[in-house]
Amino acid sequence: MSLSTHALSVGYQRDVPVLHGLDLDFSRGQVTAILGANGCGKSTLFMTLLGILKPRSGEVRWQGTPLAYGKQALRELRQRVSMVFQDPDQQIFYTDVASDIAFSLRNLGMEESLIASRTEQALALVDGNALKSMPVQYLSHGQKKRVAIAGALVLEADMLLLDEPTAGLDPAGRRQMMALIKRISESGRRVVVSSHDIDFIYEVCDYLYVLSQGRLLAEGGRREVFLNPAMLEQAGLVQPWLVRLHTELGYPLYESEQAFFAAASPAHYPHASKQKEAV
Ligand SMILES: Nc1ncnc2c1ncn2[C@@H]1O[C@H](COP(=O)(O)OP(=O)(O)O)[C@@H](O)[C@H]1O
Ligand SMILES: [Mg+2]
Repeated sequence: MSLSTHALSVGYQRDVPVLHGLDLDFSRGQVTAILGANGCGKSTLFMTLLGILKPRSGEVRWQGTPLAYGKQALRELRQRVSMVFQDPDQQIFYTDVASDIAFSLRNLGMEESLIASRTEQALALVDGNALKSMPVQYLSHGQKKRVAIAGALVLEADMLLLDEPTAGLDPAGRRQMMALIKRISESGRRVVVSSHDIDFIYEVCDYLYVLSQGRLLAEGGRREVFLNPAMLEQAGLVQPWLVRLHTELGYPLYESEQAFFAAASPAHYPHASKQKEAV
């Protein structure tokens, strides 16, 4: 399973390209980040990956060959690579959760008993079994996002593209999304996440592409990308707070908040306990 771009340029109007000569390979990591400020081209990239937009030059390659834009080829691609839009209302069409999730399977003419078990599995993965019989209009934004993800998972695609999965989520919803992405990647699927939520991306992604105004500014593993504050600033971003603790205060570099709080007890950091007393 491989999806990549080669010298990919995309634009909406004739003379103003939005993406410039991108070489990206989504099989480098299990969870790949497209990291960049608002307007850098993340959603445009995702729409191009799925063949909704066509490149101006360069190409998207699927399984090593240039994407074909015929109806049948695109339908096959979209069964293997599923996208979840930033706004779940763009994706949810039915008034009840189960029908919405089953929609794409009914479209394929799948047998009802199989649809029911697939729907059940997809809902379990997003921790959404309690939502199954709920009317969509009563769901919170975060619950709708999970339903939209279940709708993408139900096809059992090999790759999931999540466009700004934490946008509009409260802290609990954000934590839940983090656990959900880990669960999906552990189930063997590759995930691509677009975001400017730097602390979220730091904990979730293992390979990163940083975009600035449609150009590739940097790529690499977490250390390569996050230990470069000047580059992040150029992209309109900042270092994750766990990385700042390391670079600015000399703490070890922790990979997650959980690891930090488990290790950083006042016994290890006497100055931390003094500060606590002073408060
Ligand atoms: N339908 C469109 N027509 C013209 N320009 C667009 C359209 N959609 C997005 N753009 C422009 O393309 C650039 C990248 O947008 P987008 O891909 O939405 O960025 P991001 O998702 O990173 O916020 C922006 O300058 C935006 O104004
Ligand atoms: Mg966007």
